[in-house]
Amino acid sequence: MKVLGIETSCDECSASVVEDGEKILSNVIMTQIPFHAQWNGVVPEIASRKHVEWIYTVAEEAIVKAELGVKDIDAVAATNRPGLFGSLLVGLSFAKAFAWARNIPFIAVDHMLAHLYAPRLSETQKPEYPFLGLLVSGGHTIICRADDFDNITVMGTTIDDAAGEAFDKVSKFYGFGYPGGEAIDKLSRNGDSEAFRFPLPSLHKGGFTADMDGRSFHLHRYDVSYSGLKTAVVNQLEMFKVKKGVIKNEDIAASFQKTAVEILLRALLNAAEDTGLSTIVAGGGVAANSLLRSRLAGQKHLRCIFPPLSLCGDNGAMIAGIGYQYLARGERSPLDITPSARVTGFKKKYP
Ligand code: KG4
Ligand code: ZN
Repeated sequence: MKVLGIETSCDECSASVVEDGEKILSNVIMTQIPFHAQWNGVVPEIASRKHVEWIYTVAEEAIVKAELGVKDIDAVAATNRPGLFGSLLVGLSFAKAFAWARNIPFIAVDHMLAHLYAPRLSETQKPEYPFLGLLVSGGHTIICRADDFDNITVMGTTIDDAAGEAFDKVSKFYGFGYPGGEAIDKLSRNGDSEAFRFPLPSLHKGGFTADMDGRSFHLHRYDVSYSGLKTAVVNQLEMFKVKKGVIKNEDIAASFQKTAVEILLRALLNAAEDTGLSTIVAGGGVAANSLLRSRLAGQKHLRCIFPPLSLCGDNGAMIAGIGYQYLARGERSPLDITPSARVTGFKKKYP
């Protein structure tokens, strides 16, 4: 089955054709970065207008690159949550219209579940369930247990900023570049990560224990927080300076990145220890971070699976891929389904 996947939840306008949920025939990603760069962040109104301008061409290109015609598309999948409402509306409406006009099945999918599905599209690494999921993007930070592509139990989240948001805000403050994550990752390569010693959040000291399935879980051990780190880097730099002499931007970036990754790692390793799960699957834009990838790869007792860099950020292939799984089960979405900016189902539901 050849599924056309449409992704317009934020600032990437993407369409892809994936065969049987695993084989990418095409994956066209048009980024809006140049249009948002001067504002140092995504401007929702610009984003939705660009999606309106581009979606037809991007979808057409995806079908042509797959060496197919419109008639060869068997079904359409589109992101309908979470994301920028206006942006979601464009891709969703396009996908619904396409499916209606061709009289083919349509499925609306969750963007974060799709990020977790992305590694299944790579040739080499196909994770088996259950595993621990690390979802890190510009708007979400989620540590979860995944029992199936659509069955996750959220164990930990951020209690304030998302991981990607922290990268973006620090980068914006110091003018390191846009988008922030990639800019900080690059700068860090030439920086001294020991120049500043930023504190780790102490939220894991609190919490309470709960008994589930005969095992004791210490709740909050899987949560993360970034507002303290962000304040330290932006407002209290001198307080945490360790290195003597001239401080370079590269040092600030590297010290921040090291702490940001450590925060994620600590919560994730707690979850791995408590659940006994030894496979970790990462997804979302921050999963492209080079330090996160190398630090996780260094955990020899764990098998860590990352999507290829090209599938870490937003893309239509992950939408088509997970869409196929629902369609193969016979599921369909009604054509009057609407977008949703947030996903209430991601509220914590401990194992
Ligand atoms: O998944 P994504 O493309 O879009 C959302 O769904 O939000 O994630 C975007 C986020 C941004 O915050 C961006 O700064 C971050 O991913 N990001 C990175 C890196 N590349 C992108 N963060 C850290 N290191 C990177 N190399
Ligand atoms: Zn995303």
